[in-house]
Amino acid sequence: MKISLSNAAATRALGISLAQSLSANSVILLEGDLGAGKTTLVQGIGEGLGITESIVSPTFTLINEYTQGRLPLYHLDLYRLEPEEVAALNLETYWEGIEVIPGIVAIEWAQRMPYKPNSYLSLRLVAVDGSRYAEITPHNCAIKV
Ligand SMILES: Nc1ncnc2c1ncn2[C@@H]1O[C@H](COP(=O)(O)OP(=O)(O)OP(=O)(O)O)[C@@H](O)[C@H]1O
Ligand SMILES: [Mg+2]
Repeated sequence: MKISLSNAAATRALGISLAQSLSANSVILLEGDLGAGKTTLVQGIGEGLGITESIVSPTFTLINEYTQGRLPLYHLDLYRLEPEEVAALNLETYWEGIEVIPGIVAIEWAQRMPYKPNSYLSLRLVAVDGSRYAEITPHNCAIKV
Protein backbone atom coordinates (compact mmCIF):
# COMPACT_ATOMS: atom_id res chain seq x y z
CA MET A 1 0.00 0.00 0.00
CA LYS A 2 1.39 3.39 -1.04
CA ILE A 3 0.37 6.56 0.81
CA SER A 4 1.38 10.02 -0.35
CA LEU A 5 2.76 12.28 2.40
CA SER A 6 2.74 15.88 1.26
CA ASN A 7 4.11 17.36 4.48
CA ALA A 8 5.29 16.48 7.98
CA ALA A 9 1.71 16.76 9.30
CA ALA A 10 0.65 14.01 6.87
CA THR A 11 3.45 11.74 8.14
CA ARG A 12 2.32 12.38 11.68
CA ALA A 13 -1.33 11.76 10.77
CA LEU A 14 -0.39 8.36 9.30
CA GLY A 15 1.25 7.50 12.64
CA ILE A 16 -1.86 8.58 14.55
CA SER A 17 -4.06 6.45 12.34
CA LEU A 18 -1.82 3.40 12.72
CA ALA A 19 -1.71 3.81 16.50
CA GLN A 20 -5.48 3.68 16.68
CA SER A 21 -5.69 0.26 15.02
CA LEU A 22 -2.55 -1.48 16.29
CA SER A 23 -2.74 -4.06 19.05
CA ALA A 24 -0.20 -5.03 21.72
CA ASN A 25 2.93 -6.82 20.44
CA SER A 26 2.75 -5.05 17.07
CA VAL A 27 6.11 -4.33 15.47
CA ILE A 28 6.68 -1.57 12.92
CA LEU A 29 9.97 -1.74 11.07
CA LEU A 30 10.83 1.70 9.64
CA GLU A 31 13.19 2.13 6.75
CA GLY A 32 14.10 5.26 4.83
CA ASP A 33 17.05 7.57 4.28
CA LEU A 34 18.32 10.10 6.79
CA GLY A 35 15.58 12.65 7.39
CA ALA A 36 12.91 10.61 5.58
CA GLY A 37 10.43 11.15 8.42
CA LYS A 38 10.79 8.02 10.58
CA THR A 39 10.85 9.86 13.90
CA THR A 40 7.97 12.09 12.77
CA LEU A 41 5.89 8.98 12.10
CA VAL A 42 6.68 7.57 15.56
CA GLN A 43 5.68 10.93 17.07
CA GLY A 44 2.32 10.42 15.38
CA ILE A 45 2.06 6.92 16.81
CA GLY A 46 2.75 8.38 20.25
CA GLU A 47 0.04 10.98 19.78
CA GLY A 48 -2.41 8.32 18.57
CA LEU A 49 -1.71 6.24 21.67
CA GLY A 50 -2.42 9.24 23.87
CA ILE A 51 1.17 9.89 24.95
CA THR A 52 1.60 13.58 25.76
CA GLU A 53 5.29 13.36 26.65
CA SER A 54 7.40 14.57 23.71
CA ILE A 55 8.90 11.79 21.63
CA VAL A 56 12.55 12.40 20.83
CA SER A 57 14.90 10.46 18.61
CA PRO A 58 16.62 7.56 20.42
CA THR A 59 19.69 7.76 18.15
CA PHE A 60 22.01 7.88 21.17
CA THR A 61 19.88 6.17 23.81
CA LEU A 62 18.95 3.28 21.42
CA ILE A 63 15.58 2.89 23.07
CA ASN A 64 13.01 5.18 24.61
CA GLU A 65 10.02 3.75 26.44
CA TYR A 66 6.72 5.60 26.88
CA THR A 67 4.20 4.00 29.17
CA GLN A 68 1.61 6.70 29.51
CA GLY A 69 -0.70 5.86 26.57
CA ARG A 70 -3.28 3.20 25.63
CA LEU A 71 -0.35 0.80 25.09
CA PRO A 72 3.34 1.17 25.92
CA LEU A 73 5.48 2.46 23.04
CA TYR A 74 9.02 1.13 22.63
CA HIS A 75 10.89 3.35 20.19
CA LEU A 76 14.28 2.14 18.95
CA ASP A 77 16.83 3.62 16.55
CA LEU A 78 19.53 1.25 15.28
CA TYR A 79 21.35 3.80 13.11
CA ARG A 80 24.61 3.66 15.02
CA LEU A 81 24.79 -0.14 15.28
CA GLU A 82 26.21 -2.98 13.22
CA PRO A 83 23.97 -6.05 12.70
CA GLU A 84 26.03 -8.13 15.17
CA GLU A 85 25.56 -5.46 17.83
CA VAL A 86 21.82 -5.47 17.12
CA ALA A 87 21.76 -9.27 17.61
CA ALA A 88 23.25 -8.80 21.08
CA LEU A 89 20.36 -6.54 22.14
CA ASN A 90 17.84 -9.43 22.23
CA LEU A 91 15.17 -7.23 20.71
CA GLU A 92 12.68 -10.11 20.75
CA THR A 93 12.20 -9.25 24.42
CA TYR A 94 10.14 -6.29 23.20
CA TRP A 95 7.89 -8.05 20.72
CA GLU A 96 7.43 -11.20 22.83
CA GLY A 97 6.18 -8.89 25.57
CA ILE A 98 6.94 -11.42 28.31
CA GLU A 99 9.55 -9.51 30.32
CA VAL A 100 8.09 -6.15 29.34
CA ILE A 101 4.47 -4.99 29.20
CA PRO A 102 3.20 -5.85 25.68
CA GLY A 103 3.09 -2.74 23.53
CA ILE A 104 3.94 -1.21 20.17
CA VAL A 105 7.53 -1.61 19.02
CA ALA A 106 8.71 0.95 16.44
CA ILE A 107 12.23 0.49 15.07
CA GLU A 108 14.09 3.07 12.97
CA TRP A 109 16.86 1.78 10.67
CA ALA A 110 15.34 -1.70 10.78
CA GLN A 111 17.62 -2.68 7.89
CA ARG A 112 20.31 -3.13 10.57
CA MET A 113 18.39 -6.08 12.06
CA PRO A 114 20.01 -9.48 11.38
CA TYR A 115 16.66 -11.19 12.06
CA LYS A 116 13.04 -10.07 12.14
CA PRO A 117 9.92 -11.02 14.10
CA ASN A 118 7.43 -13.51 12.60
CA SER A 119 4.90 -10.80 12.08
CA TYR A 120 5.50 -7.10 11.50
CA LEU A 121 4.54 -4.11 9.47
CA SER A 122 7.21 -2.88 7.10
CA LEU A 123 6.99 0.89 6.60
CA ARG A 124 9.36 2.43 4.09
CA LEU A 125 9.50 6.21 3.81
CA VAL A 126 10.60 7.44 0.43
CA ALA A 127 11.44 10.89 -0.94
CA VAL A 128 11.68 11.17 -4.72
CA ASP A 129 11.64 14.24 -6.93
CA GLY A 130 10.53 16.45 -4.08
CA SER A 131 7.53 14.30 -3.16
CA ARG A 132 7.29 11.84 -0.31
CA TYR A 133 5.32 8.70 0.27
CA ALA A 134 5.09 5.68 2.58
CA GLU A 135 5.08 2.12 1.32
CA ILE A 136 3.41 -0.18 3.85
CA THR A 137 3.73 -3.95 3.63
CA PRO A 138 2.23 -6.25 6.26
CA HIS A 139 4.09 -9.48 7.01
CA ASN A 140 1.78 -12.04 8.64
CA CYS A 141 -0.40 -9.35 10.13
CA ALA A 142 -3.42 -7.27 9.21
CA ILE A 143 -3.40 -3.49 9.00
CA LYS A 144 -6.04 -0.85 8.91
CA VAL A 145 -4.82 2.66 8.11
N1 LIG B 1 6.08 14.09 4.50
C1 LIG B 1 6.97 15.05 4.81
N2 LIG B 1 7.18 16.09 3.99
C2 LIG B 1 8.08 17.05 4.31
N3 LIG B 1 8.83 17.06 5.44
C3 LIG B 1 8.67 16.04 6.29
C4 LIG B 1 7.74 14.98 6.02
N4 LIG B 1 7.79 14.09 7.07
C5 LIG B 1 8.72 14.58 7.92
N5 LIG B 1 9.25 15.74 7.47
C6 LIG B 1 10.31 16.56 8.09
O1 LIG B 1 11.57 15.99 7.79
C7 LIG B 1 12.51 16.26 8.83
C8 LIG B 1 13.19 14.96 9.26
O2 LIG B 1 12.22 14.13 9.87
P1 LIG B 1 12.57 12.98 10.89
O3 LIG B 1 13.50 13.45 11.94
O4 LIG B 1 11.28 12.40 11.30
O5 LIG B 1 13.37 11.97 9.94
P2 LIG B 1 14.10 10.60 10.32
O6 LIG B 1 13.81 9.69 9.20
O7 LIG B 1 13.71 10.17 11.68
O8 LIG B 1 15.61 11.03 10.33
P3 LIG B 1 16.87 10.19 10.89
O9 LIG B 1 17.28 9.28 9.78
O10 LIG B 1 17.90 11.25 11.17
O11 LIG B 1 16.43 9.47 12.11
C9 LIG B 1 11.72 16.92 9.94
O12 LIG B 1 11.95 18.31 9.89
C10 LIG B 1 10.27 16.60 9.61
O13 LIG B 1 9.39 17.60 10.08
MG1 LIG C 1 14.88 9.53 13.32
